[in-house]
Amino acid sequence: MEQTTETKTAVITGASSGIGRETARKLAEEHVQLVLAARRKDRIDALVDELTAMGAQAMSVQCDVRDEDSVKHLFAETRARFGAADILIANAGFGYRETIVDGDTKRWKDMIDTNIFGLLLTLKYGAPMLVERGQGDIFLLSSVAGHVVGAGGGVYSATKFAVNAIGEALRQEMARKNVRVTLLAPGVVISEFQDVAGYAPGFVNNWLGGTPPLETANIAEIVSTVLKLPRHVSLNQMIIRPTGQVNP
Ligand SMILES: NC(=O)c1ccc[n+]([C@@H]2O[C@H](COP(=O)([O-])OP(=O)(O)OC[C@H]3O[C@@H](n4cnc5c(N)ncnc54)[C@H](OP(=O)(O)O)[C@@H]3O)[C@@H](O)[C@H]2O)c1
Repeated sequence: MEQTTETKTAVITGASSGIGRETARKLAEEHVQLVLAARRKDRIDALVDELTAMGAQAMSVQCDVRDEDSVKHLFAETRARFGAADILIANAGFGYRETIVDGDTKRWKDMIDTNIFGLLLTLKYGAPMLVERGQGDIFLLSSVAGHVVGAGGGVYSATKFAVNAIGEALRQEMARKNVRVTLLAPGVVISEFQDVAGYAPGFVNNWLGGTPPLETANIAEIVSTVLKLPRHVSLNQMIIRPTGQVNP
């Protein structure tokens, strides 16, 4: 189906959980057509059903962002169904806390492959569709860990510092193409991130001194707000902490 100039289409990587899934829900409420990408097909299929029941247009594409053919397939499917895309949310990623000396080298490689190489593939094959369309918005998920480093967070921080570098280069490359680039750097957001990272029960509560963490809906709201800014206004970088987060 060709999209009209009024209908926007968003591609979200990492839509099976957390920030990606909640942002999909928020954009569906705002009548954005959605392409939901992740490895867990059952999860993104269930989300398609949920969003379709709300009256939204949505499709799922199983995608591993570490795999170049898989990412090419994601955007080929996007083009086949919706003709183009206007919004790209490069969100897939994860972290582990491990000291350099004790670090598991397979986990390091997986984090680097997903958070850096997978992001680059997503941008390389996704951004041209926005440029063709003559306007667009790209969101990259950095982190406060992309601004501040702590013991045990070296490799995750390194990947998120890389996200910032890639995002700034992309911003400059897209500035005269009417494509806005926004780096979002959240603090603690409750999602499956903590399970994947293997945090011990109570870790987040201790970290935040019992104050509330961010919810995924808070990040989704920020994406929605940025999208509504006048086209000549670009909110390029944002650190979003829960108010009670002291460090980092
Ligand atoms: N939660 C936080 O406190 C926090 C703070 C700062 C930044 N962030 C960043 O925000 C982003 C989203 O995190 P979240 O909190 O929403 O975590 P989450 O609930 O664990 O979601 C992570 C998403 O990434 C997807 N993903 C992971 N590896 C992938 C791969 N190889 N290919 C495709 N998809 C992949 C997962 O889907 P599948 O497993 O189904 O593939 C899942 O949908 C990440 O980049 C994270 O680094 C999170």
